Amino acid sequence: MEPEFRGALSRDALGRLAEQGFAIEPGWLGSQDVRALRERLVELDRRRALAPAGVGRGSARVVERRIRGDRIRWIDAATDNDAEKRLLRAFESLRLALNRELTLGLFELEAHYALYPPGAAYAMHRDRFRDDDARVVSCVLYLNDRWHAGDGGALRLHVAGDRCEDVQPMGGTLVLFFSERMFHAVLPASRSRLSVAGWFRRHA
Ligand code: OGA
Ligand code: MN
Repeated sequence: MEPEFRGALSRDALGRLAEQGFAIEPGWLGSQDVRALRERLVELDRRRALAPAGVGRGSARVVERRIRGDRIRWIDAATDNDAEKRLLRAFESLRLALNRELTLGLFELEAHYALYPPGAAYAMHRDRFRDDDARVVSCVLYLNDRWHAGDGGALRLHVAGDRCEDVQPMGGTLVLFFSERMFHAVLPASRSRLSVAGWFRRHA
C-alpha cells in the first residue's frame, strides 16, 4: 500500500516530534536535489554572496564568531532556481502536514543556506528571539556529500536533563525540533559543513 503523503515525513517521525520534541528523517530530500542545492551554495560562497551570520535581531544583532561561525544567505520565496523551488514546495507540504497532524497553526517559512567553514561552530542556543515568539518548528536539511562521524560537525540536541542526541549532517537528512524548548549546538567540523536551516512561524 502507498504510504499517505505527509510532506514526505513518515507517521513515525511525526509521532516522535510530538512525543520527544524532535525527529530525524534521513533521505527526506532526494540526492539529485541535495546535490543541486549543495552546488548552488558552494557557488554562492565562491561569488562571496554569503554573509557572516549574526545572533539576536534588530538593534541587538551582533556578529560574534566565537558564538556562531557560519555564513548564510536567505532563500528568496520568489526564486527561479528549480532545486530551490522544489525545496520550498517540499517545505510547504511539510507545513500543511504538521498543521493537519499536530494542529500547530504554522503560517509561513523562513529559510537560509548556511556554510560552516572548517572549525566554525554555533554555541548552545534556542531558536527563539527574546522579543519574538513567531518561530515554532525549526528544520535543518543537510547538503553534505558522504559525511563521516570523524568529520565532526554534529548537531547536538539537548533533549532532556543531561540527555543529548548527536545528529550527523548527512546529505538529505532533515531534523525537526520545537524552536522554543530545544537547546542545541553545532559542533566544529574538520571540513566545510553545508545546510539549509528553516523555521515555520505562527505569524509574520
Ligand atoms: C541554526 C542551527 C543547526 C545545524 O541555524 O540556528 O542551530 O545543524 N543550525 O546547522
Ligand atoms: Mn539553532
